[in-house]
Amino acid sequence: MADDSKSAKLIYDGAEYDLPVHSPTAGPDVVDIRKLYAQAGVFTYDPGFTSTAACDSTITFIDGEKGELLHRGYPIDQLASKSHFLEVCYLLLYGELPTAEQIEDFEFRVTNHTMLHEQMQYFFRGFRRDAHPMAVMVGVVGAMSAFYHDSTDISDPWQREVASIRLIAKMPTIAAWAYKYSIGQPFVYPRNDMDYASNFLRMCFSVPAEDYVVNPILSRAMDRIFTLHADHEQNASTSTVRLASSSGANPFACVAAGIACLWGPAHGGANQACLEMLREIGTPDQIPEYIERAKDKNDPFRLMGFGHRVYKNHDPRATVMKQSADEVLELLGIENNPTLQTAKELERIALEDDYFREKKLFPNVDFYSGIILDAMGFPQSMFTPIFAVARTVGWISQWKEQISDPQHKIGRPRQLYLGETYRDYVDVENR
Ligand code: SDX
Repeated sequence: MADDSKSAKLIYDGAEYDLPVHSPTAGPDVVDIRKLYAQAGVFTYDPGFTSTAACDSTITFIDGEKGELLHRGYPIDQLASKSHFLEVCYLLLYGELPTAEQIEDFEFRVTNHTMLHEQMQYFFRGFRRDAHPMAVMVGVVGAMSAFYHDSTDISDPWQREVASIRLIAKMPTIAAWAYKYSIGQPFVYPRNDMDYASNFLRMCFSVPAEDYVVNPILSRAMDRIFTLHADHEQNASTSTVRLASSSGANPFACVAAGIACLWGPAHGGANQACLEMLREIGTPDQIPEYIERAKDKNDPFRLMGFGHRVYKNHDPRATVMKQSADEVLELLGIENNPTLQTAKELERIALEDDYFREKKLFPNVDFYSGIILDAMGFPQSMFTPIFAVARTVGWISQWKEQISDPQHKIGRPRQLYLGETYRDYVDVENR
């Protein structure tokens, strides 16, 4: 629980208002303004929520100044090197690292929910083959509420648990099938004798015409990429899931809303946009031109994969991702990948530039992920769907936390209204 011993004072229009302050276990104090409108008749104003805590949570903590990311207190670099994705899923969902028995049971439950209802295939076939896989995922995940009625009642803890397992388990199948559909290959069913990451790679890359052996290097890298993207406090897509769930919407609809938000290039779409940018830059000698464009206020171009709302030192995930990119490309014998070389040179030049240093801009989680995924054989259009597969556990953990709170209310922000005040209707002949 927060420490509530402090308070703040607001002086407005000749009156003073005492506002409670809550001190967290880590991070900044928060000034509680829940009663401000009732007491003072004023709103606070914070478009983009740069200074607003929308909830309390015990799941993930980010220290933007230190470049620290903790999941239930455990640092992301240790989880990425010592844990594996389904264990991180358990940690995010239930709050503690599992015992050997607990993780065995959890993996069994997830593994045995990876298949989709057979009729769901027809949703895929309703899309054009060139539909973006994110459009397919939004549609198919939303449609899950039409197939899994026995896990849509959010007031029932057992149904919440089943929906959580189903979403974590089925997202790789949905993403893989969206990819297969886009390239005209048959859907590949999941196998219960494979781990989560290996299953996903096999569903994406195997074909009926020949045996497929999962490369353990790629499977380990895939699992680590899932871990690095699992959760990230109250980011835009997680906030979307929380807002949707505040109305009582079912978990499949809430996650579909999160997928839609993640798609944007300022958020989860940045990994695809970043690789497209690196390809557009081409060779390192072209970098200065793009650096100047990124600094030009009259040019909408931004360095994709750079900058972050919270991290003002470095993104710890990008550090791990960069190491993983080096390892994977070397093990694949493509360490001289020109895109990786351009990315490293771009990072070096940008981090020496005063503009980026003053604005504290540096690579984020999306800067190197696309290079690894590209080397693994994924098309750019699959980068954000992979982000969505990983982030599903974060969305669901935050969704469970919110609806399990008996105090939670529907989210309904107000506004600073700058439009017309009251005026009477004018008949068309008098306009
Ligand atoms: C993710 O929130 C999360 O946690 C997200 C995420 C997660 O795990 O959920 O971490 C995943 O979304 C990572 C971010 C991926 N997006 C990108 O890489 C797109 C490029 N980055 C930017 O669009 C931007 O940096 C954001 C969106 C990430 C952050 O934007 P903010 O916090 O709103 O910052 P801002 O846009 O107000 O920028 C501050 C200044 C501006 O200059 P001034 O107006 O002050 O002069 O920095 C500049 C911006 O112009 N700036 C950039 C830049 N990012 C910010 N200039 C050039 N290139 C960039 N990439």
